[in-house]
Amino acid sequence: MVKVELKKINKIFKPDVHVLKDIDLTIRDKEFMVLVGPSGCGKSTCLNLIAGLELVSSGDIFFGDVCVSELPPKERNLAMVFQSYALYPHMNVRKNMSFALRLAKLDADIIEERVQQAAEILDIGHLLDRKPKELSGGQRQRVALGRCIVRNPSLFLFDEPLSNLDAKLRTQMRAEIIKLQKRLKTTLVYVTHDQVEAMSMADRITILDVGRVQQVGSPSEVYDKPRNLFVAGFIGSPTMNFIDCSCTSNGLLKFGENELELNHMINQKVDFTNLNEVFLGIRPEHIEITPTPRENAYEVDVSVIEYLGSQTVVSFEFKGGIPTMAVVSGYYGANMGDKAYVSFSLDKIHIFDKNSEMNLIHDVPVQKFEFTAEND
Ligand SMILES: Nc1ncnc2c1ncn2[C@@H]1O[C@H](COP(=O)(O)OP(=O)(O)OP(=O)(O)O)[C@@H](O)[C@H]1O
Ligand SMILES: [Mg+2]
Repeated sequence: MVKVELKKINKIFKPDVHVLKDIDLTIRDKEFMVLVGPSGCGKSTCLNLIAGLELVSSGDIFFGDVCVSELPPKERNLAMVFQSYALYPHMNVRKNMSFALRLAKLDADIIEERVQQAAEILDIGHLLDRKPKELSGGQRQRVALGRCIVRNPSLFLFDEPLSNLDAKLRTQMRAEIIKLQKRLKTTLVYVTHDQVEAMSMADRITILDVGRVQQVGSPSEVYDKPRNLFVAGFIGSPTMNFIDCSCTSNGLLKFGENELELNHMINQKVDFTNLNEVFLGIRPEHIEITPTPRENAYEVDVSVIEYLGSQTVVSFEFKGGIPTMAVVSGYYGANMGDKAYVSFSLDKIHIFDKNSEMNLIHDVPVQKFEFTAEND
């Protein structure tokens, strides 16, 4: 239970690898915060700075009102789970779980009680006498969690803890970690490069790219109102379509041989006078596609059909050869080269400036202003 604040954090590795740039981030007390971004964007570095495994180059980290920037890891009262569970191979589960408590010289009775409690929460009571090599991947992961829980930390830090598990187990462990965090009410920072994991687990998501925070928000905020092209492309699967358009000063978009007339509401938000080119963003699931002609629908050519059971991914081209994707729930029967008819609601579109890459329809801040005791 602690609020974590990162204030203007920079991390420069020697000689001059500038990995994190001016990171401002507030993680609320009891929040499940997911840090997500592509490989190498600085997620683990950020977590290691919070943990104290690395020191900041500039800026400060606060836990509540306490500046912890200079504190060693063991004085930060946190527990960390890594991708490799890092269990001690020669110790059984009970010893692995109690290791930190024995080191801290707690009473044997208290240690046993904490281990039993954690084992019960994680349903690993029957495994306490086994060695790590006698456990499945999911069971090892639970022991790694157990080792954290017994310490009653005020902050959990997880760095891609599920990436070694198969898809089914990962989904199951995801649900368990969410339940665990809600039950223990401990602030949790969870790193992943998997946007599905981020969307399904987080109270809020922080999206990082090239060492900068691109956006912070709830899963629905970052999905509905992505601040820029990067966030729009990173969140959502299949990814948002970005259609290269020229535009006129009165807000008429042209792509290939097609035109899209925008409504008054969009024209009020977006100033087209100095814009020549934009990306029109539309998510595949927001495109309606039918085999029969409809009023105000674009005629397109179907190129690929991928039937996935619960949904079908239909790839098609607008006239002028613009590749685009739609997702249809259930089955969509068509062949390559068939005509189809496509429409989408103007409520669902995004317009991105090609130069600044900013979303011109949803002009949202990187993160909303956080209320603290002083400015409540
Ligand atoms: N000790 C170090 N010295 C120099 N550069 C480093 C060091 N640690 C990390 N880096 C660099 O910092 C950048 C960010 O690394 P980091 O491990 O934080 O990325 P990440 O977002 O966790 O990536 P991944 O998803 O692959 O785990 C990378 O370019 C990496 O090469
Ligand atoms: Mg990493």
